[in-house]
Amino acid sequence: IEFESFVKHMPKVELHLHIEGTLEPEMLLRFAQRNEINLPYKDIESARSAYQFKDLQSFLNVYYLGASVLREELDFYELTKAYLQRCKQQGIMHTEIFFDPQTHLSHGIALDVVMGGIRSALAEAECEWGISSALILCFERDRDAESTVSLLHDAMKIGGIAGIGLDSAELGNPPRKFQEVFQRAKNLGLHRVAHAGEEGPPEYIWEALNLLKVERIDHGVRCLEDSGLVERLLEERIPLTVCPFSNVELKVFPDLESHNLGKMIDAGLHVTINSDDPAYFGGYLNENIISTVNCLERDINDIILLQKNAIEASFCTTEKKKQMF
Ligand code: HPA
Ligand code: ZN
Repeated sequence: IEFESFVKHMPKVELHLHIEGTLEPEMLLRFAQRNEINLPYKDIESARSAYQFKDLQSFLNVYYLGASVLREELDFYELTKAYLQRCKQQGIMHTEIFFDPQTHLSHGIALDVVMGGIRSALAEAECEWGISSALILCFERDRDAESTVSLLHDAMKIGGIAGIGLDSAELGNPPRKFQEVFQRAKNLGLHRVAHAGEEGPPEYIWEALNLLKVERIDHGVRCLEDSGLVERLLEERIPLTVCPFSNVELKVFPDLESHNLGKMIDAGLHVTINSDDPAYFGGYLNENIISTVNCLERDINDIILLQKNAIEASFCTTEKKKQMF
């Protein structure tokens, strides 16, 4: 209990969070009604009971269906503000937020509507609560790479993007498919991250590092299958944004007790804990930290290490880093 209170009160950083994954059932139904979108859920309970997944794809189907209720700038604003309110409650002082513009564009929603709503909430949270953030535009890897460069340029015109990421269905969609847009992003001085080694093999982590030149790997839990890769991750101190509840809900591990986070820590890897899609996976950052550390029988030193890792791995200013250390 003492340790739970320690977790809750320590200043924290979150580095792997999809804003569409913070859409709680109550808000989902409210937006669906407001925008006259038909959902297969009649109430909050039936929405929640649909949140049972057998793998990444079965989750993505539910996640993109949920995202389809987001239509107006106000929706994106309210969604983001609600997550930032959670950050305030949870003691998160800096957060790096993914968004999936392609799914919204496919519904005919303009990019400036999506980004405008998100960015107003981010600006308010910084001003009102001192919560800083970085916005990361994710490309959906199961879509065509063709339109990604022009999408990146559209986002740059709007402004406020700190970096780019790569998410959605991993198997069959290797990082190499997105080499061009990642090179462009690098030339533009943007940060680069990619989901790799969640369901996909260690080769995808190699590709993300070698071909996409990413600075962090999202998930990356399958790296332990390849000792040469572990060596590389250690040498370059590449951060891995691990999401324990997500991994269990998507059956990457059968339960929290079997998660390899402890082994990753013991290997000396630069790991962090994150919530990924908290509205779908049963908990926000503090719940992820507390349950994982309990189930893996780790201690307070691991919690301190994990949060130091997160601060170091973040894209926030050196000034803010010093303030949090
Ligand atoms: N993996 C891939 N794509 C995603 C995820 C994830 O965990 N969450 C939202 N989009
Ligand atoms: Zn993710």
